[in-house]
Amino acid sequence: MTKLSVNINKIALLRNSRGGNLPDVLKAALDCERFGAQGITVHPRPDERHIRYSDVRELKPILSTEFNIEGYPSEKFLDLVHEVKPHQVTLVPDAPDALTSNAGWDTIKNKALLKEVIERLKKDNIRTSIFVDTDLDQIEGAAATGTDRVELYTENYAAAYPLNPEVAVEPYRKAAHRAHKYGLGINAGHDLNLHNLSFFNKNIAHLAEVSIGHALISDALYLGLENTVRLYMRQLQ
Ligand code: PXP
Repeated sequence: MTKLSVNINKIALLRNSRGGNLPDVLKAALDCERFGAQGITVHPRPDERHIRYSDVRELKPILSTEFNIEGYPSEKFLDLVHEVKPHQVTLVPDAPDALTSNAGWDTIKNKALLKEVIERLKKDNIRTSIFVDTDLDQIEGAAATGTDRVELYTENYAAAYPLNPEVAVEPYRKAAHRAHKYGLGINAGHDLNLHNLSFFNKNIAHLAEVSIGHALISDALYLGLENTVRLYMRQLQ
């Protein structure tokens, strides 16, 4: 079954807006696990506008599911992940001031950087994943970096799904097929939600994990966190 990793950045964003500890990010992560999520994802950004580096350090010893840390491989980010040693690091190419990740890596142009970072992470037994678009040359480029997995950037799928789900998923099917052929594990994320998740999961062979934040936390405002996590889990069965 495809694993659900809940991205808790939005919980941290809400907390930071008032300066106190409400909502409690650590408790929310533990509750997501208790409600059935099989992983927790965080994306610490250089300005710490949502998840703080201190949150990341505090989360690692208390989580019992898979911990996935996403980010651009700056030296500061790499120091953090080498210290915390999560199960997985997902490398994203976004600029420090990006609102959210908005493109996959150019794995061909950045081969040397990615290879070097991935080698360093593997020395610490950290599984690596790199955020990619569906372009098949980029998937081939990803395989050449030595990464364990790719994370397919699903914004285009999510945007096209309401118009024509079959057309929306086709490039992802091909990309996943190619990634699997190269021996890469397959993750996916960005703009996945209660409407489009099940169809994606059914159509993408070997999908190991999805990480979902924005829609899931937004749904939780109406449905409650427990119901919401369980509903997302149900889409993956
Ligand atoms: N994957 C990556 C690499 C991301 O940067 C994000 C957003 O932080 C997600 C997945 C989750 O996207 P969303 O918040 O739209 O579910």
